[in-house]
Amino acid sequence: MNLTEILTKRRAYRSLEAIEITSDMITQLAQAAQLMPSCFNNQPWRYVFVKDNPQLQILKDEALPKGNAWAQPASMIIVVFSKADLDCVIKDREYYLFDVGMATAAIILRATEMGLVAHPIAGYSPNKVREIVHLPEEYNIVTLVVIGKKKTDFSEYISEDQKEREKERPSRLKVEEFTFLNQFSHKE
Ligand SMILES: Cc1cc2nc3c(=O)[nH]c(=O)nc-3n(C[C@H](O)[C@H](O)[C@H](O)COP(=O)(O)O)c2cc1C
Repeated sequence: MNLTEILTKRRAYRSLEAIEITSDMITQLAQAAQLMPSCFNNQPWRYVFVKDNPQLQILKDEALPKGNAWAQPASMIIVVFSKADLDCVIKDREYYLFDVGMATAAIILRATEMGLVAHPIAGYSPNKVREIVHLPEEYNIVTLVVIGKKKTDFSEYISEDQKEREKERPSRLKVEEFTFLNQFSHKE
């Protein structure tokens, strides 16, 4: 698969089934993040790969809201975390979220290439996640990435609404709506 094919194939699918996660797979995902650029090469990204019980099951049961119950069959949840002072802070510009986002995008795309679903979520209890993975207070949890395999039919955990979104990619802004040539102009 070339990059365009991976970008096109990637979807935040919710109908998941389990897949065996090996330590080699985790290394491959981590190596995708490792190659990404960061301000001053600070590499502010940090990940807890949660693949074993009891932590994985407790994360699903206690840190996720009902709307993310689709994650129950997932085989791994990656806790993405960092803190501002791991990266450049230039006056009011903090770069850590940008750099962590780029590295995590690389993980998501590499996972897609490996035939996995890698679905980032903001719907979780940060306090619960922190407690379950023993993350110190000084770090911010940026996102969780739910890893599984796409189930060909609908899993028992997805709602009717989620079934619809599973069939077709949610619509996007047109390229002209979010890009400008040479200078900014008001588009709305
Ligand atoms: C930061 C972030 C947070 C998200 N949070 C959730 C979430 O809590 N639950 C969920 O089902 N999907 C979540 N998503 C997935 C988005 O809804 C999905 O990426 C978007 O609708 C576009 O669909 P697509 O990725 O399949 O193209 C999140 C995605 C991102 C990047």
